Amino acid sequence: MAIEIGKFAGAWEELLELLDLAFSAPWSDEQYETERRIWERERSVVASEDGQLVGHTGTFTLQLSVPGGQLPAAGVTMVGVRPTHRRRGILRNLMRTQLTEIHEAGEPLAALTASEPVIYPRFGYGLASDHQEIVVPKESRTLRPVAGIDDVRVRYVDVKESLPRCAELRNRLALERPAMFQHDERWQQYTINDSLVSSATSASKLRCVVAERDGELTGFAHYRTRRAEKGYVEVRRVHASDLASHAALWRYLLEPDLLSQTRCEMVASDDPLLDLLLDPRAPGPITRDGLWLRPVDVGRALAGRTYARDIDVVIEVVDDFLPWNAGRWHLSGGVDGASCEQVTRDADLTLDVRDLGAVYLGRPSLGRLGRAGLVTEHTPGALAAAEEAFSTSRLPFLDTGF
Ligand SMILES: CC(C)(COP(=O)(O)OP(=O)(O)OC[C@H]1O[C@@H](n2cnc3c(N)ncnc32)[C@H](O)[C@@H]1OP(=O)(O)O)[C@@H](O)C(=O)NCCC(=O)NCCS
Repeated sequence: MAIEIGKFAGAWEELLELLDLAFSAPWSDEQYETERRIWERERSVVASEDGQLVGHTGTFTLQLSVPGGQLPAAGVTMVGVRPTHRRRGILRNLMRTQLTEIHEAGEPLAALTASEPVIYPRFGYGLASDHQEIVVPKESRTLRPVAGIDDVRVRYVDVKESLPRCAELRNRLALERPAMFQHDERWQQYTINDSLVSSATSASKLRCVVAERDGELTGFAHYRTRRAEKGYVEVRRVHASDLASHAALWRYLLEPDLLSQTRCEMVASDDPLLDLLLDPRAPGPITRDGLWLRPVDVGRALAGRTYARDIDVVIEVVDDFLPWNAGRWHLSGGVDGASCEQVTRDADLTLDVRDLGAVYLGRPSLGRLGRAGLVTEHTPGALAAAEEAFSTSRLPFLDTGF
């Protein structure tokens, strides 16, 4: 029977059955309901066989922070193929159709978070952000002194009532942090949904504390507590507009009554907390992969960010999956903006599109990829100059998995 790729005309329950099979049913009904609320039905691409759904990939319409601004980006999600139909090229066909549609929609970037990292590089995705998973034992909670920390008031508030103010603060901070995307109402609700957390024993409901100075909101944290065998604080997110507020929130989170640890699955790799802890070994950080990024329109993507210093370079991009990207691109720009167009003259650098995706938001450095043999330098000095230009003062950090 032939496999057809097309739009989704069925009901959510049909998709749910497919995802349930593909992901081996790890979620509760509430969790599926949470996913349904953020699902963009009209952007789903499906594979069907004889009227039965056998594969799916979804797309979220995102506004992604890139160095110096924001760009429309497609968030790829809910990717699954019916177990009886695996390894017959269905995902490959879904990916090609989806990326073509994203290109036609004028979104220069596609982004995703991966359940299995080895799947996506073949489709041109590179690892563009990482973060740290930490566990801080209570006895190692001591922070180095932070000026102004005692002027910050930390106060418990209702999660739902405080959501608009907290989301506004978070969206403002997201503008300055590559890899974060703007949360509209839908995503704001998603981030406080209790069903997203694993249902291990004795978890409190989601709680919120805010940091304030002179009555003005300067930060917030979402967290819950678990009275398990070894009780701990589970931190979902901490955002603050200044260091003292950030440290004050963490000081609160690191000193739980009756619990022995504070855990957080997603701490930015350059979060000041990691430098402020007196015992740098205490959090035992484990690096996790964050956002995977795929330039869908190389020219618009490269022209859509700013650069740390002047850059004038011809980059040859190898792209076996999206032919319109392959070729030589003249990038010229600096701190105020850039232009990029396809040219025929000799290239200064050559790299694969997945590696361009990896360095696009500022992590890792082009030089590091060069030392790994993943960037070829044709013009002496071009790699070092491009490395500086592509670097960012803040590392990319995705605070909301999807
Ligand atoms: C991952 C999944 C979508 C792949 O679908 P599929 O239709 O079997 O993939 P394809 O047949 O199109 O494979 C395309 C290529 O990817 C490779 N590939 C696919 N899944 C892979 C995996 N899990 N690990 C390693 N390689 C994988 C295939 O070997 C093939 O390689 P090739 O290009 O060298 O021939 C499917 O196995 C699935 O639904 N898994 C469970 C849910 C899941 O993990 N989804 C991803 C969420 S981020």
